[in-house]
Amino acid sequence: MARIVGGLTTSHVPAIGGAIARGLQAEPYWKPFFDGFLPVHQWLDEVKPDVAVVFYNDHGLNFFLDKMPTFAVGAAPEYRNADEGWGIPTSAPFHGQQDLSWHIIEHLVAREFDITTCQEMLVDHAFTLPMKLFWPNGVPVTVVPVCINTVQFPLPSARRCYQLGQAVGEAVRSWDGDRKVVVIGTGGLSHQLDGERAGFINKPFDLKFMESLVDDPEWATQYSIHELVEKTGTQGVELLMWLATRGAVAGRVRKVHTNYHIPISNTAAGMMALEALA
Ligand code: DHB
Ligand code: FE
Repeated sequence: MARIVGGLTTSHVPAIGGAIARGLQAEPYWKPFFDGFLPVHQWLDEVKPDVAVVFYNDHGLNFFLDKMPTFAVGAAPEYRNADEGWGIPTSAPFHGQQDLSWHIIEHLVAREFDITTCQEMLVDHAFTLPMKLFWPNGVPVTVVPVCINTVQFPLPSARRCYQLGQAVGEAVRSWDGDRKVVVIGTGGLSHQLDGERAGFINKPFDLKFMESLVDDPEWATQYSIHELVEKTGTQGVELLMWLATRGAVAGRVRKVHTNYHIPISNTAAGMMALEALA
């Protein structure tokens, strides 16, 4: 049976792509952000996962406003980037773990999640940049993308996203693939890109949320989507990917490393690496 080794979560600001392309990782602006990933590289070198299930939100590349699934699961042989990374060179296609995709899809539908199944799927900065951040020298894992709508209202509730994560976790653990699976969630933390509150950041809430994911993972499910927008900004609701990730990892975790840095572009940039304890 497959085993979930842990969960990795990070912000996915497009400007990261430009910084990587231009080799700016050691510049004063970027160093506090990129340095946060170094202990995670070490952990990944030791643990060596085979597969990544990635919760992320598409920003209008694969789904536009005319067709917006609440939850969508990739079941494609490969996932290409059609560049929305503000300068990252076009990345090699990501290889799909199709048998796990279908196993997850079967399980989610049996558990009464009405998902969209994507046998073709393009991935944007929210998918490509975290992969590059966690594996700067090339991606050694096959992937299953799971998309959660945080772009067009109405959005799924925090509780529902946590439950989705739990169901994905159950599916992975019951897959006979005998592989090590890492769960990744990308987005957040607090940010708002437009409107009267453009530039809004809420450090106390972000830190409390990060802390909750270790020992009290359901803490954020007490909030409605509108409360989360109020507390974290219109795009800060991308933290739903972090909740889904923690739902999938389930049980007790060990904090491998966390990082929080303000700002990267308009965003409070957070990163967490949690190891699943048996
Ligand atoms: C920014 C952050 C995002 O999450 C995103 O999808 C696009 C832009 C930003 O802060 O620039
Ligand atoms: Fe985003």
